[in-house]
Amino acid sequence: MPLSAPSLPGHLRLGWRPHRHGTPAEPLVRDWLAGELGTGAAALALPRDPHGRPRLQAPAGFDVSWSHSGEHLLVALGEGVELGVDLERLRPRPRALDLARRFFHPREAAWLQALPEPDRASAFVRLWCAKEAVLKAHGRGLAFGLHRLEFAADADGLRLVACAPELGAPADWSLHESAPRPGYVAALAWRPR
Ligand SMILES: CC(C)(COP(=O)(O)OP(=O)(O)OC[C@H]1O[C@@H](n2cnc3c(N)ncnc32)[C@H](O)[C@@H]1OP(=O)(O)O)[C@@H](O)C(=O)NCCC(=O)NCCS
Repeated sequence: MPLSAPSLPGHLRLGWRPHRHGTPAEPLVRDWLAGELGTGAAALALPRDPHGRPRLQAPAGFDVSWSHSGEHLLVALGEGVELGVDLERLRPRPRALDLARRFFHPREAAWLQALPEPDRASAFVRLWCAKEAVLKAHGRGLAFGLHRLEFAADADGLRLVACAPELGAPADWSLHESAPRPGYVAALAWRPR
């Protein structure tokens, strides 16, 4: 299953930073945003909503999301969209199938089960990232339910094919998968605002 082409649409940007596990990420994010948006870090209004989702209120018209895993941080910025990003470190996942059966959509679990063992762990992580990216964009995170949105693999990679009505129409969502560094996979999901 291929990853997305390396280039992103012009209204989206990704930033990659070293990040020490357990330390706050937001100062690094603010620094990066200030550079990207050409504004002072103090001028950024970035409150959290009641579910903990950061919302960039000033400058207006942009959305931001970030994810940390291992010793790194991935930040996504987009104009005119609602977006979410997830970063995961690749590692052995002996319980991948159990987790998929318990938390994913049944058809996703069946797809994973049918894959040969060596491909299963990376497919599981890619599915996880894709689902979490959409749920972070939506703003409720994992509490929304990983089984309430379904991805399927085709020749271009993963695509959202069904979801709960709160997430809107599956076709509205775009997904960009990448391997930002060896040993990591990431997914950025967005839809027009
Ligand atoms: C949000 C969530 C998906 C993050 O998953 P994770 O793999 O642990 O962490 P990631 O590194 O990918 O992302 C962390 C970032 O997600 C963002 N985030 C937190 N809550 C979020 C939400 N509800 N929606 C979108 N993004 C959120 C923050 O920017 C956070 O960064 P921080 O640690 O610097 O604050 C997960 O923690 C979750 O689902 N939480 C449940 C949300 C919830 O119900 N909260 C109740 C609070 S009242």
